[in-house]
Amino acid sequence: MGVELLTTTRAFRRRLDLHREVSRADLLDCLDIAVHAPSGTNRQPWRFVVVQDPELKRQLADYYRRGFGAYLSARTPRPDQLADLASGRYLAEHLHEVPALVVVCALGRPPAEPSALRSASFYGSIYPAVWNFMLALHERGLGSTMTTAHLVYEREVAELLGIPGEATQVALLPVAHLLPGAHKPAPRRTPAAEVTGWDGWDGPMPKRQS
Ligand SMILES: Cc1cc2nc3c(=O)[nH]c(=O)nc-3n(C[C@H](O)[C@H](O)[C@H](O)COP(=O)(O)O)c2cc1C
Repeated sequence: MGVELLTTTRAFRRRLDLHREVSRADLLDCLDIAVHAPSGTNRQPWRFVVVQDPELKRQLADYYRRGFGAYLSARTPRPDQLADLASGRYLAEHLHEVPALVVVCALGRPPAEPSALRSASFYGSIYPAVWNFMLALHERGLGSTMTTAHLVYEREVAELLGIPGEATQVALLPVAHLLPGAHKPAPRRTPAAEVTGWDGWDGPMPKRQS
């Protein structure tokens, strides 16, 4: 795996091929790479639910759209966020057409009394697996976007897919082959040198970002 894979793996939405099936073999290969991620005390808390049934996808996408709509109506986007939100809207409208929707869960529930340590341990033990999965997909010419909007309806989705109450959903990953397109690094506002302090915090506290 090269640096290029790391810098060009990004939120793929409009480039998802909605008409080409994704095989279970490809999904399992990539999930096998996901489960090589690190986790606190090597708990390996991941569970995955792959949804390919059209009716289940339709219902899952409906919950996603409602969650995404609520998220959109609660915020005023910055001008530099408009393009991302437009492609977010595209994904929301087409989610049920994406060949596979992978719901990623972590065994257990987030800490009831969150502390920095417990929260980091809970979520930090699952998101590296999500990222491994996204990198593995991209390496094979598939792609995804990390999404969380459906979590507004976590309970309803748990019921729909038979996910037990002791498991926590953390992401919904739409998976498809990628349509041909540019292979550019994801743009970022600041180079690392501007967000790095040496031997201590460097620079003023930025304004809170939405
Ligand atoms: C925790 C998290 C939650 C996200 N939730 C959503 C989501 O619900 N819907 C969506 O379209 N994108 C979602 N994204 C994708 C981000 O919008 C995307 O990663 C970001 O804009 C950078 O995109 P880029 O790598 O293509 O530049 C989420 C990303 C993260 C890390």
